[in-house]
Amino acid sequence: MASSISLTSLLFFFYTTLSISSSVTFSATVVEDLNNLNPPPDFNTTIVNNCKNQPSLRYCKNVTPLGLDLPEIFKFTIVASHLCNESKNPNCIESFPKIDLRNRPKIAPLYLSFTFFWKFCPLTILSIDLANNSLKGNFPSDIFHCSQIQALDLSHNNLSGDVPIQNLSMVVTNLTYLNLSYNHFSEIKISDTKFLKRFNSSSFLYSGLIPDHKKFKIKALLLLFGFPIFMIFMVVFLCWLCFYRPDFLPRIFQRKHKFTPSMLKAATNGFSKKNLVAKSDQLHIYKGLLRDGSEVRIETYWENISREERRNFVEECKVLVRLSHKNLVQVVGWCDHRRLRAVVAEWIEGENVEMWLSRSAPPWKKRVKMLMRIVEAMRYLQEEWPQVGYDLKTSSILLPEDHREALISRFRVEDQNGCTNKKVNKLGVLVLEMVTNRRPREEFESGEAGFVEWVRMNYTNNTYVAEKVSLIDERMKKMTQHTLDQATEAIGLGLMCTDLSSRGRQPSLDQISDMITTLYDSFVLVSASPNQKRVMHGDRGRRHRRIQSR
Ligand SMILES: *[C@@H]1O[C@H](CO)[C@@H](O)[C@H](O)[C@H]1NC(C)=O
Ligand SMILES: *[C@@H]1O[C@H](CO)[C@@H](O)[C@H](O)[C@H]1NC(C)=O
Ligand SMILES: *[C@@H]1O[C@H](CO)[C@@H](O)[C@H](O)[C@H]1NC(C)=O
Ligand SMILES: *[C@@H]1O[C@H](CO)[C@@H](O)[C@H](O)[C@H]1NC(C)=O
Ligand SMILES: *[C@@H]1O[C@H](CO)[C@@H](O)[C@H](O)[C@H]1NC(C)=O
Ligand SMILES: *[C@@H]1O[C@H](CO)[C@@H](O)[C@H](O)[C@H]1NC(C)=O
Ligand SMILES: *[C@@H]1O[C@H](CO)[C@@H](O)[C@H](O)[C@H]1NC(C)=O
Ligand SMILES: *[C@@H]1O[C@H](CO)[C@@H](O)[C@H](O)[C@H]1NC(C)=O
Repeated sequence: MASSISLTSLLFFFYTTLSISSSVTFSATVVEDLNNLNPPPDFNTTIVNNCKNQPSLRYCKNVTPLGLDLPEIFKFTIVASHLCNESKNPNCIESFPKIDLRNRPKIAPLYLSFTFFWKFCPLTILSIDLANNSLKGNFPSDIFHCSQIQALDLSHNNLSGDVPIQNLSMVVTNLTYLNLSYNHFSEIKISDTKFLKRFNSSSFLYSGLIPDHKKFKIKALLLLFGFPIFMIFMVVFLCWLCFYRPDFLPRIFQRKHKFTPSMLKAATNGFSKKNLVAKSDQLHIYKGLLRDGSEVRIETYWENISREERRNFVEECKVLVRLSHKNLVQVVGWCDHRRLRAVVAEWIEGENVEMWLSRSAPPWKKRVKMLMRIVEAMRYLQEEWPQVGYDLKTSSILLPEDHREALISRFRVEDQNGCTNKKVNKLGVLVLEMVTNRRPREEFESGEAGFVEWVRMNYTNNTYVAEKVSLIDERMKKMTQHTLDQATEAIGLGLMCTDLSSRGRQPSLDQISDMITTLYDSFVLVSASPNQKRVMHGDRGRRHRRIQSR
C-alpha cells in the first residue's frame, strides 16, 4: 500500500503561508522514507524563513547562524508527517495535537527511537499516548522535550527503573493527565506533595510507584483528629493556666491582684519553712518571690470559710489594693480559695518599731518624726478610706532598712464605718509607747488599758516635772530640757488620745497632727538655732542637721 504526502503540506506544518511548488512522493514506511528522501534544493531557504517567522520552533535553535543541521531537520519533518498520520490527527500536519500510539506495540518503539524527532518535538502536540505497547527499559525521557504536553499515558507497558519525578513535576509543568499504571518501575514512595496533588492514585496503579499514602493518611489523620486534640489540649492547658498559674499568661490576660494557691505555692517554695517569717494559730506569714521578680509578704489563713465570708474577704481586698500612700505598705493582691485565703503585700526589708525601740534607742526627734508619718497615713485613710482599720502595734509598724518612712503594714476593712475614737485611742497608746519604751501587752497584766492607767497615774499624781520624767525612756534622759519638755507634752497628748471617759477631750486626728508637727518643728527650730545648738546639743545638733538635709 503506497501512500504519498506532498512536501508542500509537510512544510506547511512549519510555515503555513509558504508555498512550495515542488512536490515529493513519500513511500510506504517511515524507515524507507528516511533512507530514500533528500531535502529539496531550497529547503535551507524555507527553514530559514520559517525560523524568521516563528523563532520558537524547536529546530530553529540549530538554524542560526546557518550552522543548521539541515539533513536532521529534514528527517524530523518526515517522521513528524508519518507520526501525525499514524496518530489519526484529522488535519495533518498543519495541526498535530496528539501522538496516539496506543495498542501499537510494533511501531511505538520505533518512533520512540527517533531521537531527532523528539529533540524538535512540534509545539502543537499536547497529548502523548503510548499505552499498551510492551515498552521495555527506562522511562522514555525523550518525551520531556515535548515540555508543553498536557496528557501522558504510559500505562500497560513493561517500563522499569526510576520514574524521573523531578522532571515530571518540573519540566512538563502543564501536565494534567498522567497514567503510569501497570509498569515495573522501581518502587519508590512518592511524597512530593505538589506532584501528588495533581494526580491521584489511579495514575499509579501497579506501576511500582507507591503514593505515600501512609504519609498522606497520617497527615489526614493529623488534620482530622490531631488538630482537634491539639486544640482541646491547648484549651485545657490555657484553662489550667488561668485557674492555677495565671502569672504565666500574657499580662493582658492576667487578672490584676488575683493570686491562685499554685502561684503562692510557687512563690514560697511550696510554703516551705524557710519562707515562713511569722506564725500564729491561723495566720502564717511567708516571704515570697513572684515570677516578675518582686518580693512579697504573704499573709495566709488556712481555714474553711463560708461563701459569704469569702465574698466579704474579696470585697475587703479590693479596697485594700487601692490604698496608696507612702506610709502604707502597698497591698498587691489576694487569694481567695476555699481553704486558703491570703493577702499579698510588698515585702519590706527592715525592722519593726518594737525592735527599733529596744535595739537602737532612737533619739526623740526620730521618734517624733515616725509618729508624724504615722499620723499622715492615718489622715489619708480617714479622708479617703474611713472604713479601713489598721493595726498600730509597734510590731506592725515597719521601718524599711533606710529608715526613711514608717509604714503601717496591717489593715482590715471594718464593719463599723470610721470608728475614729478607737483609732485615736490606739494612736495614743502608740505615742505613750514611743515615749516610755514599755511593752503594754507583755509588761501589764491588763494589757494596754493597764499600761495607760499606769502612765496616767504617774503623770497626774506627780506634780513635779522631774517625776513625770521618770516615765520617759531612760535612754533618752541625757537629752536637753527642751526635749524632755516635749516628751512630757507627748505623754499628755497620748493620755488625751486614750481618754475614753469623756469624748469631748479626745482630740481629732487633725489636731493631733498639728500638735505632733509643732513638736517636730520646734525641735527643728531648736537644733537649727546655732547658739542653742552649741550650748545644748553639742554633737547631736550636727547630726540632726545632717538628717534633715537628706
Ligand atoms: C541553500 O542551498 C543552496 C544549494 O543547496 C545554496 O546555493 C544556497 O546558498 C543556500 N542558501 C542558504 C541561505 O544557505
Ligand atoms: C494516513 O492516514 C490515513 C488514514 O489513517 C491512511 O489511509 C493513509 O494511508 C495514511 N498515509 C500515510 C502516508 O501513512
Ligand atoms: C492491549 O493491546 C492488545 C492488542 O495489542 C489488546 O488485545 C488488549 O486488550 C489491550 N489491552 C489494553 C488494556 O488496552
Ligand atoms: C531531567 O531534566 C534535567 C534538566 O531539566 C536533565 O538534565 C535530566 O537529564 C532530566 N532527567 C531525565 C531522566 O530526563
Ligand atoms: C503551559 O501553558 C501556558 C499557557 O497555556 C504556556 O504559557 C506555557 O508556556 C506552558 N508551559 C510549557 C512548559 O509549555
Ligand atoms: C518485563 O520486564 C522484565 C524485566 O525488566 C521481564 O522479566 C519480564 O518478563 C517482562 N515482562 C513482559 C510482559 O515483557
Ligand atoms: C482520579 O483522577 C481522575 C482524573 O484525572 C478522575 O477521573 C478519577 O475519578 C480520580 N479517581 C479518584 C479515585 O479520585
Ligand atoms: C490508568 O490506566 C489504568 C489501566 O488502563 C486505569 O485503570 C486507570 O483508571 C487509569 N488512570 C487514569 C487516571 O485514567
